[in-house]
Amino acid sequence: MSPPAVEPRLGGKVFVKSYGCQMNVYDSERMTEALAEHGYSHTSSIDDADLIVLNTCHIREKAAEKVYSELGRVRELKAERAAAGRSTVVAVAGCVAQAEGPEVLAREPAVDLVVGPQSYHRLPELIARIRRENNSVVDTEFPRESKFASLPARAPAQGPAAFLTVQEGCDKFCTFCVVPYTRGTEYSRSVADIEREARNLVGTGVREITLLGQNVNAYHGSGPDGTSWSLAQLIRHLANIEGLARLRYTTSHPRDMSDDLIAAHGEEEKLMPYLHLPFQSGSDRILAAMNRKHTAEQYLELVARIRAAQPQIALSTDVIVGFPGETEREFEETLALTREVGFAQAYSFKYSARPGTPAAKLGAQVPDEVKSRRLLRLREQLNGQQSAFNTRCVGRVLPVLFEKPGRRTGQLVGRSPYLQAVHAEAALGHLGRILPVEILACGPNSLAGVIRPA
Ligand code: 5AD
Ligand code: SF4
Repeated sequence: MSPPAVEPRLGGKVFVKSYGCQMNVYDSERMTEALAEHGYSHTSSIDDADLIVLNTCHIREKAAEKVYSELGRVRELKAERAAAGRSTVVAVAGCVAQAEGPEVLAREPAVDLVVGPQSYHRLPELIARIRRENNSVVDTEFPRESKFASLPARAPAQGPAAFLTVQEGCDKFCTFCVVPYTRGTEYSRSVADIEREARNLVGTGVREITLLGQNVNAYHGSGPDGTSWSLAQLIRHLANIEGLARLRYTTSHPRDMSDDLIAAHGEEEKLMPYLHLPFQSGSDRILAAMNRKHTAEQYLELVARIRAAQPQIALSTDVIVGFPGETEREFEETLALTREVGFAQAYSFKYSARPGTPAAKLGAQVPDEVKSRRLLRLREQLNGQQSAFNTRCVGRVLPVLFEKPGRRTGQLVGRSPYLQAVHAEAALGHLGRILPVEILACGPNSLAGVIRPA
């Protein structure tokens, strides 16, 4: 028996769950802020929520499937509440919404609203429409008006480190990737718009900003002088903001690592010595099939140039194993490139065929057990590199930005310049401060130390 229809209310409490990348984390914050203007207060408990938003990721099949299993639980919750006379609005946002649109409703009827990453500024209006028309709504348009111009100013930041989206979309069309389809073509926000948001964040206590974009180093926003500015120009400009101590950016494409950006790593003190630079595969044949527009040799040359500009730099990367047709020998080339670079950190994935992407149509899909075996070997090597990097930090004194209380009382957790989590005994008053910490020990994923007088 289907539950009785209950008219949803506008306002109340909103619960937002973010899946996938940091851009989704940023979008979730901005959605929450947009809804706050219309009477929704944020809750971290799904049981309290009148509006449940799942901000989804479509990058790999597993990520998308996770959303549907969560929606199954949400459906039960919604039915229980409806039986008790309480309404719940369920919204699916993000990349699954964009990629699947009305199919989301067909697969999961408990969903009231499907809203893509370019139209979430319309959430309050869309929810009002659902209420008025008592019908579900799909909005996966790429509207002409800028989402950023329609969003309210930033609410006080959650902590001293914040994300700021400066660029969205991607024109690279790597053959395995859904991003150019879900997030659209490249778009850069203007320098003035970004600066306003950055100053706003710093005004509420933010000390570190990570500039986000699917292909962030392709940034080409309009500058205050009317010309198109590069990411390096943007970084140097933002570095002038008093009170802002650290800048980072992610994710970059090797082809867009321009000379001025590389130089900025050696010259701009606020730019942290850490770079996430995906290489995906060490085989030139696979790189060409992926449409990556670089070879293994070119990647290595680039790394050498970056290290010449900033010898301290810690490198991070993304790697895919089991791209269609990848042979054992080609996989060995990936291992070899990884060994040659020596990464401080890395994300590695089994290739996942995504509907609508060119690689999904290729023959010679690699069997899952082969992918699993390769991933295991790769991860062993990457974990070893990460541990070696962390071990080399023991005995050093690193500046740490303390971000939040640790699990143990009296302990805070912060970040080193290399983005490692660092635990130290520290008073709560040290939150938001950058203090020198002597590193005494390390684990695979974090460091521990004591605060030393500056
Ligand atoms: N299968 C596996 N990994 C993928 N990525 C992107 N698309 C796929 C896919 N279809 C990985 C890439 C990218 C990261 C964000 O996710 O390594 O850099
Ligand atoms: Fe996807 Fe990144 Fe390639 Fe763009 S550059 S298509 S976001 S993997």
